[in-house]
Amino acid sequence: MLKRVNRVALIGTGFVGSSYAFALLNQGITEELVLIDLNKEKAEGDAMDLNHGLPFAPSRTKIWYGDYKECGEADLVVITAGANQKPGETRLDLVEKNTKIFKGIVEEIMASGFDGIFLVATNPVDILTYAVWKFSGLPKERVIGSGTILDTARFRFLLGDYFDVDTRNVHAYIIGEHGDTELPVWSHADIAGTSISEWTNNKDGFNQEDLDQLFLNVRDAAYHIIERKGATYYGIAMGLVRLTKAILENENSVLTVSAYLDGEYGQKDIYIGVPAVVNRRGVRQIVELDLNEEEKAKFKNSVQVLKKTMEPVFKHF
Ligand SMILES: NC(=O)c1ccc[n+]([C@@H]2O[C@H](COP(=O)([O-])OP(=O)(O)OC[C@H]3O[C@@H](n4cnc5c(N)ncnc54)[C@H](O)[C@@H]3O)[C@@H](O)[C@H]2O)c1
Repeated sequence: MLKRVNRVALIGTGFVGSSYAFALLNQGITEELVLIDLNKEKAEGDAMDLNHGLPFAPSRTKIWYGDYKECGEADLVVITAGANQKPGETRLDLVEKNTKIFKGIVEEIMASGFDGIFLVATNPVDILTYAVWKFSGLPKERVIGSGTILDTARFRFLLGDYFDVDTRNVHAYIIGEHGDTELPVWSHADIAGTSISEWTNNKDGFNQEDLDQLFLNVRDAAYHIIERKGATYYGIAMGLVRLTKAILENENSVLTVSAYLDGEYGQKDIYIGVPAVVNRRGVRQIVELDLNEEEKAKFKNSVQVLKKTMEPVFKHF
């Protein structure tokens, strides 16, 4: 029997979208990739350019630029379209602008007969993932935001760098809003099963201020990169590819994504970054970390900040 062909539809081929497409092609994860953008010429140009890399790719990916009708047969729709963060602008400032854009996009996708999984990266990602869930009417499990996948990657990278250990052996999570109120879960951060506090005891010249600064560098990384080069895209693109693989290959991988909480962490009716088991059906289950009191309070604050921002917006929609 022939293996079923996977199709990914990418909406938005800007910095993030085109980097995602490039990384996806290089890892040979999907058989079909359709590129859609308001700027058709950009999507067409990207399709041409990416196709010219096919002789060097690990496997065949059919890539073309298309329109929303072609989402009907997609297994996964990845949305990276919309306005991006300008210098000095917070992710939450983008909310009104992008919610409006999303209503139109999601309506067109659903009109194509799409019945797969949505993966959202556009900022403010937690709120726009909630918007996609509302506008699409799909079950909550099948609407996922990239959440704190990138922040968690930055955290793992910096911890690995600080202790001089391969980042892939660092297990640590950033949870909450993908933005200013996110928090590190120090109580469950470990390297190869050994707590960060033990690693700090054995580190010459260690001081707590270093770890506090390390988290600030995670939280503010986007601002630092945007100041230097105007946008961030490689890290998130690789995070989105990682998620795509976990979904299409039914991996049951634990990744920090923006998932819908329905009582987990004591919260309801919110999309926010938490570790979750991800597979072919989307979010199989949320992993509830046993947070300490300080972490609980910070997480609650993050939920409240998001809810406060969302309330006025969703009154119009
Ligand atoms: N989740 C994360 O961790 C993370 C990280 C980096 C960037 N982002 C976000 O990703 C988004 C994209 O960033 P970027 O740097 O690629 O921006 P960009 O401006 O380079 O690309 C946006 C693309 O969206 C397209 N677009 C705009 N309106 C559209 C519509 N109605 N329909 C279809 N396409 C439309 C534009 O033509 C453009 O090609 C931003 O919201 C940014 O904040 C998220």
